[in-house]
Amino acid sequence: MPKVIRFGVSLEDGLLEKFDRRRKARNYSNRSEAIRDLIREDLVKAEWELGTEVVGVVTIVYDHHKRELVNKLMDIQHDFGKIIISSQHIHLDHNNCLEIIAVSGSPREAERLADSLKSIKGVKHATLSMSTSGRHIQ
Ligand code: NI
Repeated sequence: MPKVIRFGVSLEDGLLEKFDRRRKARNYSNRSEAIRDLIREDLVKAEWELGTEVVGVVTIVYDHHKRELVNKLMDIQHDFGKIIISSQHIHLDHNNCLEIIAVSGSPREAERLADSLKSIKGVKHATLSMSTSGRHIQ
């Protein structure tokens, strides 16, 4: 169990009011938990900017009737086999497919995979959700 340290924070009243409004809207019961999450978010951001190992999810939506597109998406995923730890294919409706691709490894490789998939003509939407292995934050 990590040791918990209390510390004081000085900030302008207007800024604190805005923070409290935002914190309540997001259902944080106290300032400490809201501040802890802001710090964690920043640490995850730093992992993606400076780190060597991250975890994330690439989400893509596309029309599976475009056969060339399906082949290209598959080729790219094989090229990035080293960082893809799992993928799930969901048939949304008669035309549209959703793919959820979990990645673990180099942040630059994860971004390259997301960019490669996103730039293919026919991909309707693509996002990269940047998360963490959890090993470097508490
Ligand atoms: Ni499908």
